[in-house]
Amino acid sequence: MNDSDKLKADFVLVGAGGHSLVVRDVVESLGGGIRGYTALERSRHFDDIPWIGGDADLSTEALDTHLALAVGDVPLRRSLVNGLPVLDRAWPALVHPMAYVAESVEVGAGVQIMAGAVVQPAVILGDHCIVNTGAVIEHGSALGAFTHVAGGAVLGGDVSVGDGVLVGLGAVVLPERTIGAHATIGAGAVVSRDVGHGEVVVGIPARPR
Ligand SMILES: CC(C)(COP(=O)(O)OP(=O)(O)OC[C@H]1O[C@@H](n2cnc3c(N)ncnc32)[C@H](O)[C@@H]1OP(=O)(O)O)[C@@H](O)C(=O)NCCC(=O)NCCS
Repeated sequence: MNDSDKLKADFVLVGAGGHSLVVRDVVESLGGGIRGYTALERSRHFDDIPWIGGDADLSTEALDTHLALAVGDVPLRRSLVNGLPVLDRAWPALVHPMAYVAESVEVGAGVQIMAGAVVQPAVILGDHCIVNTGAVIEHGSALGAFTHVAGGAVLGGDVSVGDGVLVGLGAVVLPERTIGAHATIGAGAVVSRDVGHGEVVVGIPARPR
Protein backbone atom coordinates (compact mmCIF):
# COMPACT_ATOMS: atom_id res chain seq x y z
CA MET A 1 0.00 0.00 0.00
CA ASN A 2 2.62 2.56 1.03
CA ASP A 3 4.44 2.52 -2.29
CA SER A 4 7.61 4.23 -1.25
CA ASP A 5 9.24 3.64 -4.65
CA LYS A 6 6.69 5.90 -6.28
CA LEU A 7 7.32 8.52 -3.66
CA LYS A 8 11.00 8.93 -4.43
CA ALA A 9 9.83 11.28 -7.18
CA ASP A 10 8.75 14.82 -6.53
CA PHE A 11 5.12 15.79 -6.59
CA VAL A 12 3.22 18.74 -7.92
CA LEU A 13 0.25 19.73 -5.77
CA VAL A 14 -2.76 20.48 -7.95
CA GLY A 15 -4.65 23.16 -6.01
CA ALA A 16 -3.69 24.99 -2.87
CA GLY A 17 -6.69 25.23 -0.54
CA GLY A 18 -6.70 24.12 3.09
CA HIS A 19 -6.64 20.47 2.05
CA SER A 20 -3.27 21.09 0.39
CA LEU A 21 -1.62 21.40 3.81
CA VAL A 22 -2.74 17.88 4.69
CA VAL A 23 -1.76 16.51 1.28
CA ARG A 24 1.69 18.07 1.58
CA ASP A 25 2.05 16.48 5.01
CA VAL A 26 1.17 13.00 3.76
CA VAL A 27 3.54 13.29 0.77
CA GLU A 28 6.40 14.43 2.97
CA SER A 29 5.67 11.85 5.67
CA LEU A 30 6.10 9.19 2.98
CA GLY A 31 9.47 10.62 1.94
CA GLY A 32 8.27 12.44 -1.18
CA GLY A 33 9.18 15.99 -2.12
CA ILE A 34 7.03 18.86 -3.39
CA ARG A 35 8.26 20.41 -6.62
CA GLY A 36 5.62 23.13 -6.66
CA TYR A 37 1.90 23.79 -6.76
CA THR A 38 -0.67 24.98 -9.25
CA ALA A 39 -3.43 27.41 -8.35
CA LEU A 40 -5.13 30.44 -9.88
CA GLU A 41 -2.96 32.67 -7.69
CA ARG A 42 -0.18 32.39 -5.12
CA SER A 43 -1.38 30.59 -2.02
CA ARG A 44 -1.07 32.00 1.49
CA HIS A 45 -0.37 28.43 2.58
CA PHE A 46 3.00 28.14 0.84
CA ASP A 47 5.86 30.60 0.76
CA ASP A 48 8.53 27.91 0.65
CA ILE A 49 7.51 26.00 -2.48
CA PRO A 50 7.27 27.39 -6.03
CA TRP A 51 3.98 28.49 -7.58
CA ILE A 52 3.95 26.94 -11.05
CA GLY A 53 0.90 28.87 -12.26
CA GLY A 54 -2.55 27.67 -13.22
CA ASP A 55 -3.19 24.08 -14.21
CA ALA A 56 -2.70 25.03 -17.87
CA ASP A 57 0.89 25.96 -16.93
CA LEU A 58 1.76 22.37 -16.05
CA SER A 59 4.30 21.69 -18.78
CA THR A 60 4.87 18.33 -20.42
CA GLU A 61 7.98 18.06 -18.27
CA ALA A 62 5.98 18.67 -15.11
CA LEU A 63 3.53 16.00 -16.20
CA ASP A 64 6.37 13.48 -15.93
CA THR A 65 6.19 13.96 -12.21
CA HIS A 66 3.56 12.70 -9.83
CA LEU A 67 0.49 14.74 -9.12
CA ALA A 68 -1.36 15.09 -5.83
CA LEU A 69 -4.84 16.54 -5.87
CA ALA A 70 -4.82 19.18 -3.16
CA VAL A 71 -8.40 20.46 -2.93
CA GLY A 72 -11.16 18.85 -0.89
CA ASP A 73 -14.21 20.11 -2.78
CA VAL A 74 -15.77 17.13 -4.56
CA PRO A 75 -16.89 18.70 -7.90
CA LEU A 76 -13.67 20.73 -8.17
CA ARG A 77 -11.58 17.59 -7.68
CA ARG A 78 -13.36 15.90 -10.54
CA SER A 79 -12.98 18.85 -12.90
CA LEU A 80 -9.27 19.26 -12.08
CA VAL A 81 -8.54 15.59 -12.79
CA ASN A 82 -10.61 15.54 -15.96
CA GLY A 83 -8.88 18.73 -17.15
CA LEU A 84 -5.40 17.20 -17.00
CA PRO A 85 -4.59 14.77 -19.82
CA VAL A 86 -2.51 12.35 -17.76
CA LEU A 87 -2.59 8.67 -17.04
CA ASP A 88 -3.82 7.17 -13.79
CA ARG A 89 -0.23 6.43 -12.82
CA ALA A 90 0.41 10.15 -12.53
CA TRP A 91 -1.84 10.07 -9.46
CA PRO A 92 -0.33 7.62 -6.94
CA ALA A 93 -2.43 6.68 -3.95
CA LEU A 94 -1.23 8.45 -0.80
CA VAL A 95 -1.60 6.57 2.46
CA HIS A 96 -0.35 8.30 5.59
CA PRO A 97 1.99 6.05 7.62
CA MET A 98 -0.31 6.45 10.62
CA ALA A 99 -3.39 5.16 8.77
CA TYR A 100 -4.41 1.50 8.92
CA VAL A 101 -5.44 -0.05 5.61
CA ALA A 102 -6.19 -3.77 5.52
CA GLU A 103 -4.32 -5.86 2.95
CA SER A 104 -7.43 -6.73 0.95
CA VAL A 105 -8.54 -3.12 0.37
CA GLU A 106 -8.76 -2.13 -3.31
CA VAL A 107 -7.29 1.34 -3.68
CA GLY A 108 -7.93 3.35 -6.86
CA ALA A 109 -5.72 5.94 -8.53
CA GLY A 110 -5.13 9.09 -6.53
CA VAL A 111 -6.86 7.85 -3.38
CA GLN A 112 -5.82 9.77 -0.26
CA ILE A 113 -5.98 8.16 3.18
CA MET A 114 -5.04 10.53 5.95
CA ALA A 115 -3.57 10.15 9.43
CA GLY A 116 -5.59 8.09 11.88
CA ALA A 117 -7.96 6.67 9.27
CA VAL A 118 -8.91 2.98 9.46
CA VAL A 119 -9.99 1.07 6.36
CA GLN A 120 -11.05 -2.50 7.10
CA PRO A 121 -10.92 -5.63 4.90
CA ALA A 122 -12.73 -6.00 1.56
CA VAL A 123 -13.33 -2.26 1.15
CA ILE A 124 -13.20 -0.79 -2.36
CA LEU A 125 -12.04 2.82 -2.72
CA GLY A 126 -12.77 4.31 -6.15
CA ASP A 127 -10.34 6.63 -7.92
CA HIS A 128 -9.57 9.92 -6.16
CA CYS A 129 -11.53 9.17 -2.99
CA ILE A 130 -10.46 10.85 0.23
CA VAL A 131 -10.65 9.01 3.55
CA ASN A 132 -9.83 11.97 5.72
CA THR A 133 -8.32 12.33 9.17
CA GLY A 134 -9.52 9.69 11.60
CA ALA A 135 -12.38 8.42 9.39
CA VAL A 136 -13.36 4.74 9.64
CA ILE A 137 -14.56 2.62 6.73
CA GLU A 138 -15.80 -0.74 7.97
CA HIS A 139 -15.51 -4.10 6.19
CA GLY A 140 -17.03 -4.64 2.78
CA SER A 141 -17.98 -1.02 2.08
CA ALA A 142 -17.47 0.51 -1.37
CA LEU A 143 -16.88 4.15 -2.27
CA GLY A 144 -17.36 5.52 -5.78
CA ALA A 145 -14.87 7.80 -7.53
CA PHE A 146 -14.21 11.23 -6.00
CA THR A 147 -16.16 10.50 -2.84
CA HIS A 148 -14.84 12.38 0.19
CA VAL A 149 -15.33 10.92 3.65
CA ALA A 150 -14.48 13.83 5.95
CA GLY A 151 -12.61 13.69 9.23
CA GLY A 152 -14.07 11.51 11.96
CA ALA A 153 -16.90 10.09 9.85
CA VAL A 154 -17.72 6.40 10.26
CA LEU A 155 -19.18 4.08 7.62
CA GLY A 156 -20.51 0.80 9.01
CA GLY A 157 -19.96 -2.54 7.28
CA ASP A 158 -21.19 -3.13 3.72
CA VAL A 159 -22.18 0.46 3.04
CA SER A 160 -22.39 1.36 -0.65
CA VAL A 161 -21.53 4.96 -1.57
CA GLY A 162 -21.86 6.32 -5.11
CA ASP A 163 -19.55 8.66 -7.02
CA GLY A 164 -18.91 12.20 -5.90
CA VAL A 165 -20.46 11.99 -2.44
CA LEU A 166 -19.44 14.16 0.53
CA VAL A 167 -19.83 12.42 3.89
CA GLY A 168 -19.48 15.34 6.31
CA LEU A 169 -17.33 15.64 9.41
CA GLY A 170 -18.25 13.16 12.11
CA ALA A 171 -21.22 11.67 10.25
CA VAL A 172 -22.19 8.04 10.84
CA VAL A 173 -23.68 5.74 8.21
CA LEU A 174 -25.28 2.61 9.64
CA PRO A 175 -24.29 -0.76 8.11
CA GLU A 176 -25.66 -1.92 4.75
CA ARG A 177 -27.09 1.47 3.75
CA THR A 178 -26.76 2.87 0.22
CA ILE A 179 -25.82 6.48 -0.53
CA GLY A 180 -26.62 7.65 -4.08
CA ALA A 181 -24.13 9.47 -6.28
CA HIS A 182 -23.53 13.19 -5.62
CA ALA A 183 -25.35 13.09 -2.29
CA THR A 184 -24.19 15.18 0.67
CA ILE A 185 -24.33 13.87 4.22
CA GLY A 186 -24.26 16.81 6.63
CA ALA A 187 -21.67 17.01 9.37
CA GLY A 188 -22.72 14.99 12.41
CA ALA A 189 -25.63 13.24 10.68
CA VAL A 190 -26.59 9.67 11.48
CA VAL A 191 -27.79 7.95 8.31
CA SER A 192 -30.28 5.22 9.15
CA ARG A 193 -32.04 5.02 5.76
CA ASP A 194 -30.77 4.89 2.19
CA VAL A 195 -29.98 8.31 0.67
CA GLY A 196 -30.97 9.10 -2.91
CA HIS A 197 -28.92 10.50 -5.80
CA GLY A 198 -28.02 14.14 -5.14
CA GLU A 199 -29.90 14.33 -1.84
CA VAL A 200 -28.62 16.50 1.02
CA VAL A 201 -29.42 15.01 4.43
CA VAL A 202 -28.74 16.33 7.93
CA GLY A 203 -29.48 15.48 11.53
CA ILE A 204 -30.15 12.47 13.72
CA PRO A 205 -31.70 10.52 12.17
CA ALA A 206 -30.66 12.09 8.86
CA ARG A 207 -33.47 13.64 6.84
CA PRO A 208 -33.48 15.61 3.56
CA ARG A 209 -33.22 19.35 3.93
C1 LIG B 1 -25.40 20.07 5.29
C2 LIG B 1 -24.61 21.19 4.61
C3 LIG B 1 -24.09 20.69 3.25
C4 LIG B 1 -25.56 22.35 4.40
O1 LIG B 1 -24.84 23.40 3.85
P1 LIG B 1 -25.63 24.76 3.50
O2 LIG B 1 -26.73 24.46 2.52
O3 LIG B 1 -24.60 25.78 3.11
O4 LIG B 1 -26.30 25.09 4.90
P2 LIG B 1 -26.29 26.45 5.73
O5 LIG B 1 -24.97 26.62 6.42
O6 LIG B 1 -26.80 27.56 4.86
O7 LIG B 1 -27.37 26.11 6.85
C5 LIG B 1 -28.75 25.98 6.52
C6 LIG B 1 -29.48 25.45 7.74
O8 LIG B 1 -29.13 24.09 7.94
C7 LIG B 1 -28.53 23.90 9.24
N1 LIG B 1 -27.44 22.97 9.09
C8 LIG B 1 -26.35 23.11 8.31
N2 LIG B 1 -25.56 22.05 8.42
C9 LIG B 1 -26.15 21.21 9.28
C10 LIG B 1 -25.80 19.95 9.77
N3 LIG B 1 -24.68 19.35 9.39
N4 LIG B 1 -26.63 19.35 10.64
C11 LIG B 1 -27.77 19.97 11.05
N5 LIG B 1 -28.16 21.18 10.59
C12 LIG B 1 -27.35 21.78 9.72
C13 LIG B 1 -28.06 25.29 9.66
O9 LIG B 1 -28.01 25.43 11.05
C14 LIG B 1 -29.11 26.15 9.03
O10 LIG B 1 -30.27 26.10 9.85
P3 LIG B 1 -31.21 27.40 10.06
O11 LIG B 1 -31.74 27.72 8.68
O12 LIG B 1 -32.23 26.93 11.02
O13 LIG B 1 -30.30 28.45 10.57
C15 LIG B 1 -23.39 21.62 5.45
O14 LIG B 1 -23.77 22.44 6.55
C16 LIG B 1 -22.57 20.48 5.96
O15 LIG B 1 -22.80 19.86 7.00
N6 LIG B 1 -21.49 20.19 5.15
C17 LIG B 1 -20.50 19.25 5.48
C18 LIG B 1 -19.21 20.02 5.79
C19 LIG B 1 -18.05 19.09 5.96
O16 LIG B 1 -18.08 18.22 6.81
N7 LIG B 1 -17.04 19.29 5.13
C20 LIG B 1 -15.86 18.46 5.13
C21 LIG B 1 -14.65 19.31 5.35
S1 LIG B 1 -13.17 18.35 5.30
